[in-house]
Amino acid sequence: MHSYGSPLYIYSKSQIEFNWNLFEQSFESHPHLICYAVKANSNIAVLNILAKLGSGFDIVSLGELERVIAAGGDPRKCVFSGVAKNENSIKKALEYGIYCFNVESEDELARIEFVASSMNMTAPISIRVNPNVDANTHPYISTGLTENKFGVGSDIALSMYKKASSSTHLKVCGLDYHIGSQITDLSPFLEALDRALELIEKLKSENIFINHLDIGGGVGVSYNQEKTIDIKEYLNSVIERVGSLKILVEPGRSIVGDAGIFVTKVEYLKQNDLKSFAIVDGAMNDLIRPSLYDSHHQAVLIDNNSRGINDEWDIVGPVCESADFLAKNRNLTLEKGDYIAIMTAGAYGFVLSSNYNSRPRVAEVMVSGIKHSLVRKRETIESLFENEILFEDETH
Ligand code: LLP
Repeated sequence: MHSYGSPLYIYSKSQIEFNWNLFEQSFESHPHLICYAVKANSNIAVLNILAKLGSGFDIVSLGELERVIAAGGDPRKCVFSGVAKNENSIKKALEYGIYCFNVESEDELARIEFVASSMNMTAPISIRVNPNVDANTHPYISTGLTENKFGVGSDIALSMYKKASSSTHLKVCGLDYHIGSQITDLSPFLEALDRALELIEKLKSENIFINHLDIGGGVGVSYNQEKTIDIKEYLNSVIERVGSLKILVEPGRSIVGDAGIFVTKVEYLKQNDLKSFAIVDGAMNDLIRPSLYDSHHQAVLIDNNSRGINDEWDIVGPVCESADFLAKNRNLTLEKGDYIAIMTAGAYGFVLSSNYNSRPRVAEVMVSGIKHSLVRKRETIESLFENEILFEDETH
């Protein structure tokens, strides 16, 4: 912190590699492709580490695809998810030769066919099926229920597959689903898998054959010592059920979540009859998960000199909203100037940050052994309004 300033995100290269290798080793010799979900942490240094391991990527925008390429990733190992792919991103993705489009609606299938035919190309597609299973996770990050906007039900999927298999500009490659995020129990995953396998059987009876099954991401991490999914056990049960079918997986959080921390400095301590606040320099604009999902991240004092005040602190930021908190009721001994690490902040941390309250986005640092270096500069105040233009309506 002393050389990079505060607040700050810090990532561990070896933890990212360890997490990715856990997936890789669990597949053993079964055909597979790990497509890291770029949205979880899209810093090009992170993507570059994964690209060097041979990872594929799950992207949801042209911006993410360009990041992957800038980071040395292979577009031919990219799957393109997301409910609203525009014509330009479809065109670029076809030019780059991505592995597969994960198609989310009938309209989108028609658009991909149209773009591919106008380029005289064939688009590889997979239909995203919504298996209607309850992932028992926060409603904002649940995606596999009929009430969610993602994917299509199996009847519509079947008719889309029929359409795609008769088109000269579409090639049926796979079937995919993603039922939600931060899932800590295996059963919804296996339920979704069973539904997908039923549909694959139905497709076979219509003479439609797929090459891969994409089981999405969603494996939960342990934020507060809670039990979560054992990746090896999960993938073994998938492999047991799918026969020789190639498996794609789209992990995001489980690759980078526990590989990152958010460091923030105590600016002031403020106590009243009811509450004790540690006012820190980091805020909801830097790490929105606690405010948006009421999520728990452990708060750990760095370099504890224990000369401070012991209390149950709410760790709050400078943003003018009562929802601006990073942690609540934490028993810590704090004094001004202390640094607090907000743990397990490597996923959906920096990527969800904003400039709210005209706060420059924070710096990001990568650590490997004793080496550490900046992987994103702290934004400057000037950069905050460099794209803004004064409105002049006075006539002279
Ligand atoms: N594949 C698709 C199609 C997705 O939509 C997502 C995440 C993933 C893979 C990766 O899921 P993961 O392995 O990371 O669970 N901002 C929220 C999480 C949103 C997840 C969105 N989709 C949070 O901070 O909890």
